[in-house]
Amino acid sequence: MDMVNITIDGQKLQVPKTSTILEAARTAGVTVPSLCYHPELRPEGACRVCVVEVAGARSLVASCVYPVSEGMVVNTNTPAVREARKTVVELLLANHPQDCLSCQKNLNCELQTIASDLGIRKIRFDGEKKNHPMDAANPSLVRDQNKCILCGRCIRACSERQGVHVYSFANRGFNTTVVPAFNQGLHEVACTFCGQCASVCPTAAIVEKDDTQAVWKAISDPTKHVVVQTAPAVRVA
Ligand code: FES
Repeated sequence: MDMVNITIDGQKLQVPKTSTILEAARTAGVTVPSLCYHPELRPEGACRVCVVEVAGARSLVASCVYPVSEGMVVNTNTPAVREARKTVVELLLANHPQDCLSCQKNLNCELQTIASDLGIRKIRFDGEKKNHPMDAANPSLVRDQNKCILCGRCIRACSERQGVHVYSFANRGFNTTVVPAFNQGLHEVACTFCGQCASVCPTAAIVEKDDTQAVWKAISDPTKHVVVQTAPAVRVA
């Protein structure tokens, strides 16, 4: 495999020529935050949370889509980098619902974790809030576009992993959304409810239905019976 020599935060590394800066940094144990990047999906460079400084480049670059090259010198934690990442996350939070404590993804939300890691304690920008209806008219998933940060991971997971292509971007600017065709509900399109989109969503924009409360209520009510259904065994040749 062809290798190149690069320096990340003073560490000299040899990495495959086909690596991106983010892949090289993570191989070397250097933490670079990311949101739209997912190691099993094609990188898109949409969120800009992963920006780093490359010596000689005119601006900060998105490390998840920027290829390494021989002799490259990268700095991942300069004041300019930290300020840029912080501003990106603050802008995402500016129109994000402020309901972390009651959110299903509380303490399991990548946006929340990155905001905490960047030391964001208050929202500097008072952004307009979105007001999309919830899509929950199906047995498995809940979509809340108000929590969508437009990373596009669900679009890529649905097309690259499942080959179903349920989601796409619609509209522009502040009105940009990720929706099934013609903004229909998931129960009205070709969704197979595999849950791949929910598994890669960094926030609670797509989550599996949480029936925990219903099950607990049923368990504590002796007049109700909880029926646990097991799937029939599948013979694997
Ligand atoms: Fe690199 Fe989003 S993680 S641009």
